[in-house]
Amino acid sequence: TQKKKLIAGNWKMNGSLQANAALLQALRDGLGVPGCGVAVAVPAPYLAQVQALVAGSEIALAAQDVSQHERGAFTGEVSVSMLRDFGARYALVGHSERRQYHGETDAVVAAKAQRALSGGVTPIVCVGETLAEREAGQTETVVKRQLAAVIHAVGHCVSEIVVAYEPVWAIGTGRTATPEQAQQVHAVLRAQLAAATESADRVLILYGGSMNAANAAELLAQPDIDGGLVGGASLKAADFLKIIAAAH
Ligand code: G3H
Repeated sequence: TQKKKLIAGNWKMNGSLQANAALLQALRDGLGVPGCGVAVAVPAPYLAQVQALVAGSEIALAAQDVSQHERGAFTGEVSVSMLRDFGARYALVGHSERRQYHGETDAVVAAKAQRALSGGVTPIVCVGETLAEREAGQTETVVKRQLAAVIHAVGHCVSEIVVAYEPVWAIGTGRTATPEQAQQVHAVLRAQLAAATESADRVLILYGGSMNAANAAELLAQPDIDGGLVGGASLKAADFLKIIAAAH
């Protein structure tokens, strides 16, 4: 495909004022003119800091989550208009760690995706099966159920979302899906999108789960893998830059 790929780093709950400044400086120094989109998803308290650090660069700002509510009595939550105040272009939605540790259901994830879109922030909707689900042969059923909820919620705006396929068993484990395993699921997701929009080819479907400098190129060479959602390897500038360089 000719569309520009997207490499998004997800820092998860890592970083400090000092570490963020060093990481962004090294990224900016090494980036040049990237052949793909680049984003970093940072912890909410650092949005202002990182907004300033990426200003004038090719690096877009992303949040790791967004509230499904517009405003009000939701202690601890961050709204889409707050993200917009700090220049966030993307928000992760339904990361498996949110689903697993914070009880986010398909319905909540769908509401968050819809709220992000209507507030002008592009949701990066994460889907993926657990190891038990894969071993039970349920991979397709699970990811299709997760994506269907979002497609239903966002209606004709579905071509504006980004999807990230992250097999839970590959996250932070060093155990990457093979390019063939990933492509197979990406093709299923593409077909599901195609049933909902004529612009399914335009939708970016990222792969996430132990993507690193060594395995990125072959994953990104698959026809339906349009980028990466990178956790651990996004915390090291040299590794993240190599993954960006592999995305053309
Ligand atoms: O959002 C990123 C993914 O959860 C992947 O994390 O690259 O550390 O496996 P990882």
